Formats: sequence, structure tokens, C-alpha cells
Amino acid sequence: MSAEDQKRIAGEAAAQLVRAGMTVGLGTGSTAAWFVKALAARRLDVRGVPTSEATAALARELSIPVVDFDSVGRIDLTVDGADEIGPGLSLIKGGGAALLREKLVWEASDRCVVIADAAKQVVRLGAFALPVEVVAFGHKTTANRICDVLAELEFSQMPRLRTKDGAPVRTDGGNLIYDIACGSIPEPARLADALKSITGVVEHGLFLDLADLAIIGTPDGARQVEP
Ligand code: 5RP
Repeated sequence: MSAEDQKRIAGEAAAQLVRAGMTVGLGTGSTAAWFVKALAARRLDVRGVPTSEATAALARELSIPVVDFDSVGRIDLTVDGADEIGPGLSLIKGGGAALLREKLVWEASDRCVVIADAAKQVVRLGAFALPVEVVAFGHKTTANRICDVLAELEFSQMPRLRTKDGAPVRTDGGNLIYDIACGSIPEPARLADALKSITGVVEHGLFLDLADLAIIGTPDGARQVEP
């Protein structure tokens, strides 16, 4: 079974968790797009809080009412993809450069469900390069600070500015992304704290203690994993 089919199975299963009247956080990426499509197909009376301009455009195209994040108090349920799902549902996210808005929406949600194809499940985080969002002003200086912090934690890797077609990738908020090819992250919470302490770092892609449930698409159907 293709990864795309697994993503579709996970997205469709997650759409079944939505009830009429809910405010739903809409994730970003190819797996989250399957969820948004499956949710739209249910034609429930819900409102969506998108985590990116791309998801907002998809939701509008599919006639899911989109509301401003600041106009809702809490979000009932957020469904989103991930780049890696590790032990305890620790996650790496941000492959689609939406990690800041995603984390804001996740943290405002009563329940967060991560959906993915089976290849995303790993025994230890870090094979996927960890995205770190930084402000554009002084970003090379911030990258040097990130290097220092990585060295203190005994990582030898350098952060790499994410580019596309020769130009730096800009997030929806106008920031830049540095990717750190850690290889393996033995203590995700320690790295998360250290990165957050750097002025100029807006957010990182480690989502720890946030996911309540993972739904993994498999040839045998949707498999649920709890923390
Ligand atoms: C975007 C994300 C995505 O959820 C993550 O990159 C997974 O994407 P996909 O479902 O396309 O594999 O974190 O910032």
C-alpha cells in the first residue's frame, strides 16, 4: 500500500472523531489535507481554524467555514500530520514550515490527534531534520547561537537554512527556517528547552506532550496509538 493511501486512511479515520458544533484545528501538509477533505465530505456544521494559508485556502475551497484563531476561545479538536512520531507521541513537525501556527493551535486545543503513514513512526526522534523557525533579522547570528547550543549538548551538526528554488523559504509569518540534521535526539525535552532559550528562535518543531492520540494508516486499516 502506498504512503499516500496510508495518509488517506488516517485522515478519513480522524474525520470520524469530529462532531457537529465543534471548532476544529486544521493541520498542514499532505496528510492533514486528506483529513480536511474527509471532514468536508461529512458536511457537518463545524468551524475550522487553519494552521497555514495553504490549509485555509483548501478549507475555503471545500466550503468548511474558516474562523480567525483569535475569535475562538478554545479549539475542541485539532488534527494534524507529523514528520516523525516517537516514543510517548513525541513529534517532529515543521516539514511544511507551518510549525509556529501549528503549535499555537495545538496548545489551544482540548484534544490533539496526529495522523500519519506508518513510516513516520520511529523508535527515536531525529532522523528527520529538526526545523527551527527564526526571525529574519540577524538570522545568521541566531544560527551561530544555535550552533553553540548544539555543541553544548554534544551535537556536531550545523543548522542549515531552508531554501527553495535558490531562495530562503519564508513561513506564513515571514520568518525563516533552519533545519538541524540531528540524526538522533536522545533527550528531546533538553534540546527543546535549549532552543527556546535563544533570542531570535521563534519556535522549534519538537512537539512534546501535546498529542493525545496518533492514528496511523496501515494496509489493515487505521491503527490508534496512545501516548
Ligand atoms: C507542516 C507539518 C506537517 O504536518 C508535516 O510536515 C507532515 O507533512 P505530510 O503530511 O505532508 O507528510 O508539520 O509544518
